[in-house]
Amino acid sequence: MHIAFLNPQGNFDPKDSYWTEHPDFGGQLVYVKEVAIAMAALGHQVDILTRRIIDPDWPEFKAPLGRYPGVENVRILRLPCGPSAFLPKEELWPHLGSDWVPNILAFYQGEGKVPGAFTAHYADGGLSGALLQKEAGVPFTFTGHSLGAQKMDKLRVTPENLAEIDARFHFARRIFAERVSMNHAGRIITSTTQERMEQYAHPAYHGAVDPGDSAHFAVIPPGVNRHVFSPAPSAEDAVIQRRIQAALERDIADGRQELPMAVASSRLDTKKNHVGLVQAFARSQDLQASANLAIVVRGLDDPLRQYETLSPGEKAIMDEITTLMTSHNLWGKVTAFPLNSQPELAAAYRYLARCHSVFALTALYEPFGLAPLEAISCGLPAVVTKNGGPSESLQEGEREFGVLVDPSDSDDIAQGLLRVLGSEESWTHFQGAGMQRVLSRYTWERTAEGYLGVLKDLVREPARPGKLAIPEYFGYPTPENDIPLADLGALYFKETAGDSNK
Ligand code: F6P
Repeated sequence: MHIAFLNPQGNFDPKDSYWTEHPDFGGQLVYVKEVAIAMAALGHQVDILTRRIIDPDWPEFKAPLGRYPGVENVRILRLPCGPSAFLPKEELWPHLGSDWVPNILAFYQGEGKVPGAFTAHYADGGLSGALLQKEAGVPFTFTGHSLGAQKMDKLRVTPENLAEIDARFHFARRIFAERVSMNHAGRIITSTTQERMEQYAHPAYHGAVDPGDSAHFAVIPPGVNRHVFSPAPSAEDAVIQRRIQAALERDIADGRQELPMAVASSRLDTKKNHVGLVQAFARSQDLQASANLAIVVRGLDDPLRQYETLSPGEKAIMDEITTLMTSHNLWGKVTAFPLNSQPELAAAYRYLARCHSVFALTALYEPFGLAPLEAISCGLPAVVTKNGGPSESLQEGEREFGVLVDPSDSDDIAQGLLRVLGSEESWTHFQGAGMQRVLSRYTWERTAEGYLGVLKDLVREPARPGKLAIPEYFGYPTPENDIPLADLGALYFKETAGDSNK
């Protein structure tokens, strides 16, 4: 099958330039690249369609065609989309329907063959998918990655600040593009059932999508990067082992340095609930007798003592942690050290697994929860919040692939950690069950197979015509045609009044 990914934002090149350095070069690009390569490995011809950028500051994206070394069947096709300079994703809206989509059609007409199906990513890809389906009759899937309504909630948009916030983020265009994407897509792909039931139920999407319509959705989880997160040793392992051992010698009391660790490796953010984990450790003498606590803090050599360079929010969390350590006499039982990249994290997980330690993520809510799957993939059993995606990935009926805990209950966190750490048998059981789960469900190959199953169904099914009109602005982007803020307000404010998300 010939499949094309629609991903106008960010860009792709063999060096993965700007990944994580720029907000448009985040996890979505990793996702698209990995699924595309995995689909090609399964024997399909894959194109990643993105923008052509001719800009001295972004030289990597000038050529119309790119390829990943050693990957035959994936083309990176860069086609003009508005001005040749780099544009942040918020500025792409006027150029998608009027330029990028016609250029995609012209490109494939030139080749004499259009792809059998498109898979569209984020609202900019989704809108383009709807326009391409309308013009060429090619079906598409829509994967939101991040939805505008939830971002508006987070930014606490009000009728008073709407115009100011919209001037920067263009939510009117984004929300209407999302509504079109959802409504016209043959299938909407989500990572979890919760994502479908919660995010797509937002009032801003009422009338465009029905989260209860199972036939319109497919739940396809993303994969763990097994090249990095695997039990196989890498060049980093010895360095990381020495770094952790040095931290243990510095922070942990004599006689305790051989104990396993409960390790928290997420970024310092209140939502991740490091403080809840420390409280659980403080309250349980059994846990303190079984393990030390390890906290990973990116970029700091001695995070328990020198953390002035952190942001005010991160600093406040470290203040709380160290205050708890003093009030509960935990100095000598807690260590902290930096891990600054994915390979370093993976090397640490492998070392910690050899020490029969446990990964701990007691976040208040975790939308998907890739981090515990990455740790498990290296052989480290996980104790994870029950709120969000982990309740689907780490448990199925009565079967457990890690231990789920209530992040608001210190005793439950401590009990959960002790369930894994309590006996050799239990640790080995959770290690094996977790690794098996990752291999069977959470690899990019599985993700690609999930997409291929859906795309094959879509090309066989009768077309699913979207009912929502595509706003004229997207074809003829003039100021007069622009989507009025009042239309966004009518959707977002009228219906969200009293909504608990706000
Ligand atoms: O890369 C992950 C991602 O969710 C992308 O889909 C998107 O570029 C960004 O992060 C989030 O975008 P936004 O803040 O506009 O929702």
